[in-house]
Amino acid sequence: MIIQKSDNPRIGSFDPENYSFGDHFIDHMIICEYENGQWGEPKLMPYGPLPFSPANMAFNYGQACFEGMKAYKDKNGDVFLFRPEKNFERINKSATRLAMPEVPEEAFMQGLKVLIDADRDWVPHGEGKSLYIRPLIFATEEALKARISTKYMFAIVASPAKSYYSAPVSVKISDYYSRASSGGVGFAKAAGNYAASFYPTKLANEEGYEQIIWTDDATHENFEESGTMNVFVRINDTIYTPATSDKILDGVTRDSFIQLAKKRGIEVVVGDVKVKDVIAAHERGELKEVWGVGTAVVTSVFEAIGYKDKKYDLPKLSAEESYALTLQRDLVAIQTNNAEDPFGWRV
Ligand code: COI
Repeated sequence: MIIQKSDNPRIGSFDPENYSFGDHFIDHMIICEYENGQWGEPKLMPYGPLPFSPANMAFNYGQACFEGMKAYKDKNGDVFLFRPEKNFERINKSATRLAMPEVPEEAFMQGLKVLIDADRDWVPHGEGKSLYIRPLIFATEEALKARISTKYMFAIVASPAKSYYSAPVSVKISDYYSRASSGGVGFAKAAGNYAASFYPTKLANEEGYEQIIWTDDATHENFEESGTMNVFVRINDTIYTPATSDKILDGVTRDSFIQLAKKRGIEVVVGDVKVKDVIAAHERGELKEVWGVGTAVVTSVFEAIGYKDKKYDLPKLSAEESYALTLQRDLVAIQTNNAEDPFGWRV
């Protein structure tokens, strides 16, 4: 790996008490370029803009995918990644679906470790704090033919992240828009999936909802995801989450929640989550919780769900009563080295 350290580190001027998610970047980044059918040598270099033409194929045809992962600092100053091999596997599944070359394991894993080691001081310590890491692959060929690009860049950038405790939000169950279709790219972290979600989300915002619960494109009868997250529903003491498919992202936080729930003896049903069953459970007083999970936020608790013209308020549970918050505590304790790691998730 080529190492080019920054002559002007900005860490000294970063105020660890005053930042928000995703708007400050650590001093370095990793880049690795692909051309002539092969990846070059990864490079650690100062974080900053790169020159690309507006004719760049990623801008025009959207060959771009990314990952979201985090590094945590424990009370001794040791730094941990969480299940990085899952992100490595997933970025290559996304890349393959978008006809992009897979990134080699060494570039991904060594890139992560060299970057986080160089910018160890940027990894915040404290309640809810972490370093959000964004690996991405995108086309870089300057050409306007609608075909597979011959040039790519793999990059890793990172940004300090704050409290994962977000205020409860209201979400709208979509009865028209969908984020994915059968045979499509819903399972991939394709940049275009996020672009396509912004307009329906804006419409939901105008109706007073923070996010959308995405339903299947064919019938809109089944939950798929929520916002940029996987979704969980608790009816009485059982939790339900849609099975992963070509339309649903195989979320690392989702998988971790399922394993942690089972370890606690909570019944988890992975399969169809029907809108009508969720509404009927609410009417019987059995719908206890609905929440989203993802790397960035960890857990987003929903206070109400909207469907058609009705809004259904959800019970306000204490942090102890809530399965969403209990499982979040279990997960964060492992991520931050405040608990045993029986699953071997910390790296
Ligand atoms: C993540 O949780 O990593 C996400 O994908 C959300 C991100 C788009 C902010």
